Amino acid sequence: MYVTPSHQYPLSVTMTLPRRQALLAWVERNNAAIIEDDYDSEFRFGGRPLEPLQTLDAKGLVVYVGSFSKTMLPTLRLGFLMTPPSLRAALHKAKFVSDWHSSTLAQAALGNFIDEGEFARHVRRVGAIYRERHQLLADAISREFAEHLELIPSTTGLHLTALARRMSVDRIAEIARHAADRGVAVQILLSRFAVSATPTGRG
Ligand SMILES: Cc1ncc(COP(=O)(O)O)c(C=O)c1O
Repeated sequence: MYVTPSHQYPLSVTMTLPRRQALLAWVERNNAAIIEDDYDSEFRFGGRPLEPLQTLDAKGLVVYVGSFSKTMLPTLRLGFLMTPPSLRAALHKAKFVSDWHSSTLAQAALGNFIDEGEFARHVRRVGAIYRERHQLLADAISREFAEHLELIPSTTGLHLTALARRMSVDRIAEIARHAADRGVAVQILLSRFAVSATPTGRG
């Protein structure tokens, strides 16, 4: 079971503690495992701290996956896994057959950066900047665009989603083009992310 419990993309859902516990119980009953992709969890702007599934797991059923793409930069192409001992050898092999290895130089530099406390300082510093931007954007959408957009509340991560229920898809696309001309990237059409019919309606 692959999940992103801190912050689902694109609807921003955070998995509650009872649902986390229910998922762990389901996985145990069904002899399955969980890949917990915690890709966007370092930036949390409110609410209570979250217990990762990996911390709640007493049975060794969770592989925790982290990425440095959002905290550092995507071009580093570095992330990390925390695995139960039973899966370690298989995952080593899987990494080897998929791309042999990640850049040793970049890993060593990042390792030093972490050991010297610079990474933690960096995440605190950019976290404060992203918190301000998140708030600014959420306030602007709620205030200036209240007539057109319904903001989906979110306290984690680097994206915000809003629903434009009353606008046609063509009109939304036109507005996104205007936004792009002004350097604001907007992804339109939630339906692109749905396996079947869009659960939240249009746009
Ligand atoms: C669901 C999800 N997982 C992981 C990542 C990070 O991927 P990568 O570490 O390959 O850049 C992203 C990037 O946005 C993502 O959306």
